[in-house]
Amino acid sequence: MSEPIPILDLTAQYATVREEIEAATLRVLGSGRYVLGAEVEAFEAEMADYLGAAHAVSCASGTDALHLAVRALDIGPGDQVLVPAFTFAAPAEAVALTGAEPVFVDVDPETFLIDVQHCRNALTPKVRAVIAVHLFGRPAPIDALREVLGDQVAIIEDCAQSFGSEIDGQRVGTLGAIGCFSFFPSKNLGACGDGGALATRDAELAQRLRALRNHGSTELYRYDHLGINSRLDELQAAILRIKLAHIDDWNRKRQNIAEQYQELLQGFASCRLPELVPGHVWHQYTLTTSKRDALIAQLQADRIDCRVYYPHPLHQQPAYARWAPEHPLPAVERLCAECLSLPMFPELKPEQMQRIQDSFARAEV
Ligand SMILES: Cc1ncc(COP(=O)(O)O)c(C=O)c1O
Repeated sequence: MSEPIPILDLTAQYATVREEIEAATLRVLGSGRYVLGAEVEAFEAEMADYLGAAHAVSCASGTDALHLAVRALDIGPGDQVLVPAFTFAAPAEAVALTGAEPVFVDVDPETFLIDVQHCRNALTPKVRAVIAVHLFGRPAPIDALREVLGDQVAIIEDCAQSFGSEIDGQRVGTLGAIGCFSFFPSKNLGACGDGGALATRDAELAQRLRALRNHGSTELYRYDHLGINSRLDELQAAILRIKLAHIDDWNRKRQNIAEQYQELLQGFASCRLPELVPGHVWHQYTLTTSKRDALIAQLQADRIDCRVYYPHPLHQQPAYARWAPEHPLPAVERLCAECLSLPMFPELKPEQMQRIQDSFARAEV
């Protein structure tokens, strides 16, 4: 029987950096400093440098990064924030936890990204920000959002799935007011545990974020803001520093894989493949198909992992239904019914991709 093909193989990546990570881990363990120390400081500087951002502030997760961003912009009860309804729950969750109202908007059915015209239609005087999710690694239309929403609406970039992605040579996370990153292990730049960070060009905002992530404290036992405990630990920072040096190479490999998929999977009539665009870093390779159940069944029979990211529109979930818009969001609903993500990781081999094509052919999709 053939070997299973996973959707993601973190052990394959670990094998390529194992010695460096093990040495760094032992160094940190022996240092006696485990939270917010020299490794975190160095990682923040290296990340800011990589992005071309003036400031990077680390925290405990991507969800916290989004929550801290909303809090740092003084958004709360009575305010609204536009969020796409086709994404992971964290952006809506981060907004709702501040007491502000997440306003769910539709996405572009071709790009899967927040729909700019729909944002324009949803604009009210209460809208203080939009969370632009660079979904699956594809950069969201930041310039168009800015043009339609104006300067009064802050752009918070959700870069959880898009470390290294860029628009016209400028890295995502540096294009709006604040960029929010996740280092959950499965991300393009992933830690060996939870982690997150924020990027901004605004020194005052960076200072406030630093305080908010550490109990609102600006100096020891002095609390100027109501903060939370959301700090990156030294082990994760040391590991991220090592992986940061490889991110461009890993992202290039993902781009090559997407190009190969594009050739291999052309011509399956029920499938619409994602467009190859510059700056995309392919956190996921996600297509749509009207024959999803049959395709999943065949892939499973052939021991090929695949996932539905995302099966349910956010505004139809019990936790978020109270903020459901009055009119339907047709593109989100259709994508939830038709999307399918295939194996995508830098170490995916050509022969594994060939097996995936063979499986598509057997499924007769
Ligand atoms: C688009 C998006 N935003 C935010 C998050 C939250 O990140 P974390 O899991 O680090 O809290 C994730 C990931 O899990 C995500 O995919």
